Amino acid sequence: MSAESIVRRAVCPGSFDPVTNGHLDIISRAADLYDEIVVAVLVNKSKSSLFTVEERISLLTEVTQSYGNVRVDSFHGLLVEYCRARQIPVIVKGLRAVSDFDYELQMAQMNRGLAGVDTLFMPTNPEYSFLASSLVKEIATYGGDVSSLLPELVHKRLLERLEEQTRARRADSGQLR
Ligand code: PNS
Repeated sequence: MSAESIVRRAVCPGSFDPVTNGHLDIISRAADLYDEIVVAVLVNKSKSSLFTVEERISLLTEVTQSYGNVRVDSFHGLLVEYCRARQIPVIVKGLRAVSDFDYELQMAQMNRGLAGVDTLFMPTNPEYSFLASSLVKEIATYGGDVSSLLPELVHKRLLERLEEQTRARRADSGQLR
């Protein structure tokens, strides 16, 4: 195989519940460095999520469409098994702050030891160093403005989902009375 025909592929794994501007910062910069980026959504049945895996994939697909070399998939089980099956040699991870480093380093060393899959750490844009999907959901639940932290479409779907939940809760408590 000639050097020109080798596809340099990397994976950006995560829960993406939902995708934030911080995730997009990392995905878009990784897309500049590699021929192909696979954004892999972890299917984690033991963790409750606001959006289903299918909804998260759909949101990610829409907001990464313009990059051209990003595709979205899901995985369960070990990330390195997913990488091995698809010949993906590199995991790209964003580091927001030093507090991320300990656990990320542990996972990176484990993944390298398990399957020889390397991890590339990318410092997030300082604008997003405090950003986490869990915080965004919590703030939005209490009516805080998170519009600057999410792609417009994701922000819209998040508000719709929280509204649906509020309506469902009201209906439930009405039925109980
Ligand atoms: O967005 P998150 O929840 O911080 O992403 C964490 C994720 C999905 C990257 C990580 O939990 C993971 O890789 N899970 C897959 C299971 C696995 O391979 N575990 C061993 C890690 S050494």
